[in-house]
Amino acid sequence: MNERLRNKVALVTGAGAVGPGWGNGKATAVLFAREGAKIFGVDINLSAVEETRSIIQQEGGACTVMKVDVSNPDEVKPMVNQCLKTYGRIDILHNNVGIVVLGGPVETSEETWDRVMAINLKSMFLTCKYTLPHMERQGGGVIINIASVAAIRYTNIPYITYYASKAGILGLTQGIALQYAGKNIRANCVFYLA
Ligand SMILES: NC(=O)c1ccc[n+]([C@@H]2O[C@H](COP(=O)([O-])OP(=O)(O)OC[C@H]3O[C@@H](n4cnc5c(N)ncnc54)[C@H](O)[C@@H]3O)[C@@H](O)[C@H]2O)c1
Repeated sequence: MNERLRNKVALVTGAGAVGPGWGNGKATAVLFAREGAKIFGVDINLSAVEETRSIIQQEGGACTVMKVDVSNPDEVKPMVNQCLKTYGRIDILHNNVGIVVLGGPVETSEETWDRVMAINLKSMFLTCKYTLPHMERQGGGVIINIASVAAIRYTNIPYITYYASKAGILGLTQGIALQYAGKNIRANCVFYLA
């Protein structure tokens, strides 16, 4: 590896994986570490993110983990503070967390709508809200928000909350990218294809 992220600190949300093997968050955390980044990995499932930490540490990388529900405002600010306490900065905020709940508008309950919006979209607003002031103070940073092709295309799957929340991530990211471009803070979306 080229160590393109040497001396960088990356906060990765959903850095475990939903099942055995690899998921996007786990793969990203391990790859960032291979490039030299120090990883602050968080997940609602502590044992999942501990597995990621053990892979990174076995390869000689640095990783600290924390159990966090990123949809909970009371947990996000302490998460950012803990990362700063541990590593002193946040160069990369990688917002990976996102869930799928099947259902069109008729089948979806209001509770499900609110829950998916909180996990997929509000969580990214919260992590950005508390991380941006530090990036600004340290003179720059990078935000990567994981969207989906479902943000811009119908994928033949009836999951209205997924389409809506992923499309919302585009607006959130564009707003941040343009507001903070002059402050050396870059914000982008990644569109994974299922
Ligand atoms: N898997 C795909 O085919 C696919 C396709 C397009 C986009 N994506 C997007 O990629 C991202 C990752 O998906 P993945 O399927 O690879 O999952 P993943 O394997 O990266 O797992 C996500 C992790 O997030 C954690 N998590 C869930 N809710 C959380 C919360 N509230 N707080 C903290 N952690 C939480 C889970 O415990 C899990 O470890 C999502 O945003 C998803 O929408 C995935």
